Amino acid sequence: MLVVMKRDQEEIGRHAARFVASAIRAKASLTLGLATGNTMVGVYRELVRLHREEHLDFSRVTTFNLDEYLGLSPTHPESFQHVMQENFFSHVNINPRNIHIPDGTMSGDYEQYCAAYEQAIRDAGGIDLQILGIGRNGHIGFNEPTSSIGSRTRIKVLSSQTIEDNRKLFAAGEEIPQCAITMGIGTILEAGRILLLASGETKAVAVAKSIEGPITSAVTASALQLHPNVTFILDEAAASALTQREYYARVLEMTALLTPSRLG
Ligand code: GLP
Repeated sequence: MLVVMKRDQEEIGRHAARFVASAIRAKASLTLGLATGNTMVGVYRELVRLHREEHLDFSRVTTFNLDEYLGLSPTHPESFQHVMQENFFSHVNINPRNIHIPDGTMSGDYEQYCAAYEQAIRDAGGIDLQILGIGRNGHIGFNEPTSSIGSRTRIKVLSSQTIEDNRKLFAAGEEIPQCAITMGIGTILEAGRILLLASGETKAVAVAKSIEGPITSAVTASALQLHPNVTFILDEAAASALTQREYYARVLEMTALLTPSRLG
């Protein structure tokens, strides 16, 4: 597990985007797992800049988003489909056929729908690089505390804390989604490489528990300790509750010397 510490949210966005860009340059047909949330906005801004100014080519890239709110139409301003279009997809040369986001308006057999999402990931050859944010309660995707570490794509009931965190995003009086479709922890752990980004003091405890605490379904990001190729990209505030920052910095220095390809 590598821990990269940067000054602020803008720097972590730029760092993560550079990492993604070098993965695409190494494999033009990269399968990329994508996340939403405020922390991701800078990543997409920088990827769009790299496309416009440095010809980063998305034409053969395939994407799978982690999750979507159940019940929100793709045109709802807070649907992840809409957010992704606005922030990223409409600004780069990605083939719309290669974009996959769970459909929040689907109805009928949810289990079959989720199994088909898993199958689509397998058909694409699996996710090469997965980007993650983290919730205040340590969730990744919408894998709320007590989610099985072996979980696959499914419907998940959102925790009260997540619903509260989301309230500010929705119009006053508007109904806030209670459920989401999300890749599972087991799905995420099958990605070849994982980047987790976190910014701000409100994430510091969740980040420290994920990196330095026990592996527990109470903090689902802690399951990333089971994965052999994870990089946490943190700003100073998000890293502030870690006890071994000096060690992580030395690990990075040695990694740059010995196995630089791990740094992206
Ligand atoms: C939602 C998403 C997560 C994301 C989290 C953090 O809960 N499902 O994937 O990590 O938001 O969002 P933010 O970056 O806005 O704090």
